[in-house]
Amino acid sequence: MCGIVGYVGHRRVIPILMEGLKRLEYRGYDSAGIAWIRDGKLVLKRSQGKLGELNRLLNGLMDTRSHIGLGHTRWATHGEPSETNAHPHTDCTGDLVVVHNGIIENYYSLREKLKAEGHRFKSETDTEVLAHLVEKYLRTDLAQAVREALEEVEGAYAMAVLWKKNGDQIVAARKQSPLVLGLLEGESFLASDIPALLPYTKDLLFLEDGEIAILSGQGIEIRNLETFEPVARAPRSISWDASMAEKAGHKHFMLKEIYEQPQAILNTFRGRVVPETGEIDLPEIRLSEDRIRNLTRVVLLACGTSWHAGLVAKYWIEKWAGIPVEVDLASEFRYRHLLLDPTVLTVPVSQSGETADTLAGLRMAKELESPVVSICNVLGSTITRESDGTIYTHAGPEIGVASTKAFTSQLTALYLLALYLGRVRGRLQKQEMKDLVSALIQVPALIQDDIAGWHEAAASLADIFYRNTDFLYLGRDLQFPIALEGALKLKEISYIHAEGYAAGEMKHGPIALIDRDMPVVALAPRDHVYQKILSNIEEVRSRRGIVVGVGEKGDKGLAKITRHVIYCPRPQAPEINPFLYVIPLQLLAYEIAVARGCDVDQPRNLAKSVTVE
Ligand code: AGP
Repeated sequence: MCGIVGYVGHRRVIPILMEGLKRLEYRGYDSAGIAWIRDGKLVLKRSQGKLGELNRLLNGLMDTRSHIGLGHTRWATHGEPSETNAHPHTDCTGDLVVVHNGIIENYYSLREKLKAEGHRFKSETDTEVLAHLVEKYLRTDLAQAVREALEEVEGAYAMAVLWKKNGDQIVAARKQSPLVLGLLEGESFLASDIPALLPYTKDLLFLEDGEIAILSGQGIEIRNLETFEPVARAPRSISWDASMAEKAGHKHFMLKEIYEQPQAILNTFRGRVVPETGEIDLPEIRLSEDRIRNLTRVVLLACGTSWHAGLVAKYWIEKWAGIPVEVDLASEFRYRHLLLDPTVLTVPVSQSGETADTLAGLRMAKELESPVVSICNVLGSTITRESDGTIYTHAGPEIGVASTKAFTSQLTALYLLALYLGRVRGRLQKQEMKDLVSALIQVPALIQDDIAGWHEAAASLADIFYRNTDFLYLGRDLQFPIALEGALKLKEISYIHAEGYAAGEMKHGPIALIDRDMPVVALAPRDHVYQKILSNIEEVRSRRGIVVGVGEKGDKGLAKITRHVIYCPRPQAPEINPFLYVIPLQLLAYEIAVARGCDVDQPRNLAKSVTVE
């Protein structure tokens, strides 16, 4: 929900902090600030608004001879977006600053207690409590003061502290909010997410919950927050490189990531399938074949777009593995009476691996001894570290807040999981496996061949519809989740009200909405429910509705009954259609948002990773 960065070493710190915040801006962008130490003085610069505002404040300061500092870009939880509420926050003396991502749940009682002890608060934030708590316990050892301060704190935090009387040390700690540390000879880095560290190092340390880290030019020391005992942790090297987290000439990260989908899908199945035999290799699932054969149910657990990926996977897993599948919104799952046991496989699906609701559901599943295999895109993220096994998607860093390549990569991983479960449970014959693997392998080329045409069609449709205020997306069977996803893409980046609906449900209510002002996007591949969706399209037309069809190349019948059509290739198997049909909808949402002048990569009120409940 927020982004924090920190650096200590031999380089000028301000450019490093600002570059890091730029790479984390997708995590929150309503205000920002940095602090550094120079000649024993602590300097603080903060601004409301996007990072550009802070850059203006720092005009002429980039070459400041300082080698240690902290930065923060904010997604407001407590206190409106303003300079006063922007991080870093100081204590009463102004000698120390804190940056924080998370929520201090008992901040009100702590603030009242600290006020009674004479502390003077300047902001409305929960974070400022941390600065005064550290001040309260600070004598000579910053790490000890942070440790004692955090003993009083309830809630989630990834935090870092800088104290002017200890100008070569940053202390950081985490609980339930992500914090990754970067190592380089003579330099130490910290950040909320990997992209901020990529320009400097690929050697990363992942801080675990309940740990504190001391960063200096001599390296990084990790200790257990409770016992203060040293923790040995080997660095992990990441395969991403800095260019993967840049726009590479595209106008927006989202557009770049839409076009990266063929590669992302390829990277996710490569090394896991044997085309010649149809074999699937998923050692990371870490479940014995016996255990898989004895499974009674699969529960897919996710939020937002990832939940839509789970909805698609339900059809595949039930058909190919012959096992009942539930797809649960994590925010609902975690508050229900759960019927899980060791024969139920729980599959959290998450791009970031940090979504609070999905993480909470994972932890509940583990308490009930359900085996947990997650689908995730970020190495070392909390969900992956708490899962029994993880099938990583290899989409590379996804910076655009609206998820695109992560979604189709999740579909790829879930498709492989469904086939793997089916083979182990003896439900899929060799030839079927071979055909279905072959169908998947063709997907990158099918997308590559048509994406420019889809983009052109989407841009033309955006010119027509960008002023509309309501959209309805209809789909059946495997296309129902894609209708939901298309509607989510549109609403989250263009702010147009859009609803995804099971087409068969239209007669049970939404048909009352149909009029000439509400475009209806109907997904109509020539699959086993094709005639049914055609009937739905006729029902819309007969009520003077405007239909935008997404159908199969050569389907002239569809063109006769729709005002506009975007055509997709016919894949080798109908189960592949979700990979294809979602992309024109991503592009339609993108082009409409651009036509409306919306901030596509950083839509209002949203953040890339929802690490708070
Ligand atoms: C997708 O476009 C949204 N940004 C959002 O729904 C997202 O999918 C959801 O917050 C889940 O995030 P995760 O995959 O990182 O868990």
